[in-house]
Amino acid sequence: MRSRIVVLISGGGTNLQAIIDACKQDNYGGEIVAVVSNKADAYGLTRAQDANIATSVLSHKDFDSRESYDSALVAEINNYQPDLIVLAGFMRILTAKFVQKFQGRLINIHPSLLPKYQGLHTHQRAIDAGDIEHGVSVHFVTEELDGGPVILQAKVPVFPEDNADELAQRVHQQEHRIYPMVVNWCCTKRVTMAEEYALFDGVILPISGYASEE
Ligand code: GAR
Repeated sequence: MRSRIVVLISGGGTNLQAIIDACKQDNYGGEIVAVVSNKADAYGLTRAQDANIATSVLSHKDFDSRESYDSALVAEINNYQPDLIVLAGFMRILTAKFVQKFQGRLINIHPSLLPKYQGLHTHQRAIDAGDIEHGVSVHFVTEELDGGPVILQAKVPVFPEDNADELAQRVHQQEHRIYPMVVNWCCTKRVTMAEEYALFDGVILPISGYASEE
C-alpha cells in the first residue's frame, strides 16, 4: 500500500509539482492525499487542484498565537491520516509541540548545504561569503530550526558573475531531482529516523547525508 503524504506549502509549489509528477510512476511509494497552505493565493494550491488532490488553506492571520495556529494545523493534518508530512516551501517556524507530534515523519527541503545558512536569504549569503559551491539539503525536522539530521544534499557551483536569482534557479533544479527521491525513500521506509539520526537501510547516515563525500 502506498504511504499517505500531506504536503505543506506557502508559495509556488515547484517542489510540490515534482512530487506530484513522481507519484504518477507505478512503483512510487507514496500518494499525496492533501496539500495544506498557510496562504490562500499560493500557486501550489492550483497545482494540487489540477492533479485532483484535496487542498486546504489555514491562514496564520486567523490565529493570535503560533501555538494556536500550530494546534489547528496538527488537527488539519491529522484529518488526512498521513504517514509522511512534507514541507515544500512552507515558510513558517514550527513550534516544538508541532514538531514533536510528527517527529520522524516530518521532512523539509532547505536551500543550502546545512549546517551552513540556516534561515532565510541563503543564496545571497553564499554569494556574499564567496562560496564556490552551494546547494540544497533534505532533512528530518527537529525542534532546532533547519537543524535536523540531513538525509540527502545536492551541490551546485557558484560562478563569479552569479546573482541570487540565478543561483536559486540552479539550486531549484537540484531540489526537483532530490526531493521526490527522498520522499520515496521515506514512504518505503528505506530512510527512517532514530533519536537524532537519519538512517538509510538501518545504517546511520553521515552528517551530510547519503551522498556524503567524507
Ligand atoms: C524552495 O527553494 C525551498 O528550498 C525553500 O522554499 C522554496 C520553495 O519553492 N524552502 C525554504 O527556504 C525553507 N526554509 P517552491 O514553492 O517552488 O517549491
